[in-house]
Amino acid sequence: MEPLFSISNLVKTFSPGGETEVRALSGVSLEIREGEFLLISGANGSGKTILMLILAGLMDPDEGELLFRGRPLNTVMGDLRRHLGLIFQDADAQMVGETVAEDIAFGPKNLGLSKAEVEERVQNALAALGLEHKRDRPPRNLSGGEKRRLAVAGILAMGCQTIIMDEPFANLDWPGVVQVLEIIRQLKQEGKTVILLTHELEKVLAFADRLVILDRGIIREDGKPAEVLDRLKDAYGVRDPRKSYGTVADCTWL
Ligand SMILES: Nc1ncnc2c1ncn2[C@@H]1O[C@H](COP(=O)(O)OP(=O)(O)OP(=O)(O)O)[C@@H](O)[C@H]1O
Ligand SMILES: [Mg+2]
Repeated sequence: MEPLFSISNLVKTFSPGGETEVRALSGVSLEIREGEFLLISGANGSGKTILMLILAGLMDPDEGELLFRGRPLNTVMGDLRRHLGLIFQDADAQMVGETVAEDIAFGPKNLGLSKAEVEERVQNALAALGLEHKRDRPPRNLSGGEKRRLAVAGILAMGCQTIIMDEPFANLDWPGVVQVLEIIRQLKQEGKTVILLTHELEKVLAFADRLVILDRGIIREDGKPAEVLDRLKDAYGVRDPRKSYGTVADCTWL
C-alpha cells in the first residue's frame, strides 16, 4: 500500500550562511505507513518540532520531497487539513474558543457537522479528558496540564485519521498521562495513524510500533522500539527507559 507520508532528503536551515546558522534538518528521509504508531524521539533541538511543522504543511523545507499518499504535499493541502489533527508543543498556540466547550466545538463545526453531532462530540471529548467541570471557563485560565487536555479533546472531537502530537505529556499529571494513553490506544484500535514526538519515551514506548531517533537533524535509528533501544548511543541524548530505577538513590539523571 502507498505510504501515508513519504519524505525524502528534507533539509531545513535557519539563518543560512550567517553566524547563527542552524541546520535543523539535515537530509531526513522517512516513510510513514497508514495505521502505524510512530514514536519520534531525540534531545532538545534535535529537529522534532520542525519535522512536524513541515509534515503538516505549516513550514516549507529548503530541500527535499514530501508526498502525502503519493502526491506532493503542497497540492493536497485541503485534504491534509481535514485528515490531520495536530497537538502543538505550545498548548497556548492552539486555543481559539471563548470557552472550553466552544474551543472543542471549533473543529467539528468547521467540518460542517450538525449542531447535535457537534454537541455530542464535545460532550464525549470533555468526558474523555476529564474537563467537564471546566466546560464554560475561558481556555486561557486553564492550568498548563488542562490546556494540554483541551488540545487533545479538540483533536478527538474532530475525528482526524492521522494525529501528530508534539510532546503531548508536557505538564500532564499522572491521570492526564493515563487519559492521553487511553486515547492513543483507542485511536490505534480504530486503525488511525499516530505520530508522537517526545523525549518522554517511558510513557508510550510499550504502545509504539516503531521508534525513530533524531539527533541534530539526522535520523540515527529507525526500527522496532526494543531493537532501537539496544543500539542507542549516549550521544543522542535519549535515555533507555528500560533501565529502571531500583532505589531512591537511583532516581537521579546525573
Ligand atoms: N524559527 C527558528 N529560527 C532559528 N532557529 C530555529 C527556529 N526554530 C527552530 N530552530 C532551531 O532548530 C533546531 C530544531 O528545533 P526543534 O524545535 O525542531 O527541536 P525539538 O527537537 O523539537 O526540541 P525540543 O525537544 O526542545 O522541543 C533547534 O536548534 C532550534 O534552535
Ligand atoms: Mg519540540
